[in-house]
Amino acid sequence: MCGIVGYAGGQSALDVVVAGLKRLEYRGYDSAGVAVLSDGGLAAAKKAGKLVNLEKELVNRPLAGGSVGIGHTRWATHGGPTDVNAHPHLDNAGRVAVVHNGIIENFAALREELADRGHDLASETDTEVVAHLLAEEFSSAGDLAEAMRLVCRRLDGAFTLVAVHADQPDVVVGARRNSPLVVGVGEGENFLASDVSAFIAHTRSAIELGQDQVVELTRDGVTVTDFDGAPADVRAYHVDWDASAAEKGGYDYFMLKEIAEQPKAVADTLLGRIDGSGRLTLDEVRIPDAVLREADKVVIIACGTAFHAGLIAKYAIEHWTRIPCEVELASEFRYRDPILGQKTLVIAISQSGETMDTLMALRHAREQGAKVLAVCNTNGSTIPRESDAVLYTHAGPEVAVASTKAFLTQLVACYLLALYLGQVRGTKWGDEIHAVVRELARIGDEVERVLETMEPVRALARSLAHKDTVLFLGRHVGYPVALEGALKLKELAYMHAEGFAAGELKHGPIALIEEDLPVVVVVPSPKARSVLHDKIVSNIQEIRARGARTIVIAEEGDEAVVPYADHLIRIPATPTLLQPLVSTVPLQVFACELATARGNEVDQPRNLAKSVTVE
Ligand code: F6R
Repeated sequence: MCGIVGYAGGQSALDVVVAGLKRLEYRGYDSAGVAVLSDGGLAAAKKAGKLVNLEKELVNRPLAGGSVGIGHTRWATHGGPTDVNAHPHLDNAGRVAVVHNGIIENFAALREELADRGHDLASETDTEVVAHLLAEEFSSAGDLAEAMRLVCRRLDGAFTLVAVHADQPDVVVGARRNSPLVVGVGEGENFLASDVSAFIAHTRSAIELGQDQVVELTRDGVTVTDFDGAPADVRAYHVDWDASAAEKGGYDYFMLKEIAEQPKAVADTLLGRIDGSGRLTLDEVRIPDAVLREADKVVIIACGTAFHAGLIAKYAIEHWTRIPCEVELASEFRYRDPILGQKTLVIAISQSGETMDTLMALRHAREQGAKVLAVCNTNGSTIPRESDAVLYTHAGPEVAVASTKAFLTQLVACYLLALYLGQVRGTKWGDEIHAVVRELARIGDEVERVLETMEPVRALARSLAHKDTVLFLGRHVGYPVALEGALKLKELAYMHAEGFAAGELKHGPIALIEEDLPVVVVVPSPKARSVLHDKIVSNIQEIRARGARTIVIAEEGDEAVVPYADHLIRIPATPTLLQPLVSTVPLQVFACELATARGNEVDQPRNLAKSVTVE
């Protein structure tokens, strides 16, 4: 949440920063702002609403050019999305400008202190106190990095801060605690940003910053210390995708592009994970096999879509390894006093690797002695860095706020992990593992086939644009798919959408069924366990008898559902546990089309932001 850019180099800082903000707008779009240093001092502009408003403002009121600058795109926490609350925030003399991502928990006390010392604070934000504190500390330290270290030691909460000062016009200073900040290292220019997409057009060399570090950037160098000023260890890495991966590439929306990229994302996530003898080799899983063998419980923590991937993973883990597996919303986990120990394997699933709820849950798990393995899509992010091991998904950058390709690759990674546990613990024979891996390897093509048949789904979605409610039902692994379908519809189409376990319907929710209510039913494979399939066919009849308009997602060749389906969406036959890889896809397309038909912003749904870095 909130996107931050800093630049020191030879180009126009304003151009570089605004271009970077465009790439980060998915992190928040309540307001945007920039500050640039030039010979004439510090010039800033900020505007409520999307970045385009700021761009108009910059046309009407051009800023003096300079080659050092910072920028921000906001997801509002403290204070509404107004011009005054937009970042950057300046001190009263207008010498220092700061942008911030996170929440400064002790800001009220600091604000009072500053007011007592005669500071005049204009906004409702927690951030503004930092600008004033930096100005005070700079007046005695005479150095922005030192001022930042002194200020950071006084702050509680989570923050990425990036600041400039008119009296040190070559320097940008950043700091991080619990919120993301990466450095881009160029030639004669350096960058700071919430994620690498902001500077990927300029450099693919990045430096991962650790917790409680301050970075000083000039066009010629990068210096990193801890909050006490001691030199800090950092990790340099090469970004393995380029600028084109973070562009729409001819699609109207990032979401459409990312849905279409799913076959490749699935294939890439499988790549190189099986050796010549057919054994799984998950190189990044550095937890010793002996520890994995002894694990007596798996606990999965995640949020939103990643949580739904975890719910599906549970079926595979328990079935293939016979280890009990719990799945918990990361935001609830540590408040429940969960029972964890050295034999608990915790799996933290996160696309961004920065979700604060998941990060806090994993820290709690490690404090209790559990081993944590991250399933993550973002190299250099906090969650893998703080975990004992990581299994990367290779979805490439996901820009649309609604997660699609990351979800499918999370599923693939979890299946691989479950099979690996089965391999290590001897609960699955090599040939059994190989058989599943072979099925996984052909799923990319099946997803492609699903994508080729989506026109009727799009037409159906358009015809339902006037509806208020859509329900989703599923059983077994189809239940989390129903939850995911409902989540996609809520966040994109702003419709009332609920996912239910089909068997639960009769315990209450069936009262919601009324004439012509659209109900999407995800039908398990008929060859799985016929009782499971038979039961859901009965459920479809029950809702249809009460007037529901049934939209049935069923495998090719499943004839039993035909008489009860008002609309039938066919998916290829897959092994039971793998079906979510294909059954989710029509639901993504359905939600995307409904959002478009209702005139909503597909890539940037209201109130949301990608990478949720507040709790
Ligand atoms: C929904 C969506 C969110 C994320 C959730 C976790 O489409 O994208 O529900 O799945 O915020 O994010 P990560 O995976 O980055 O931890």
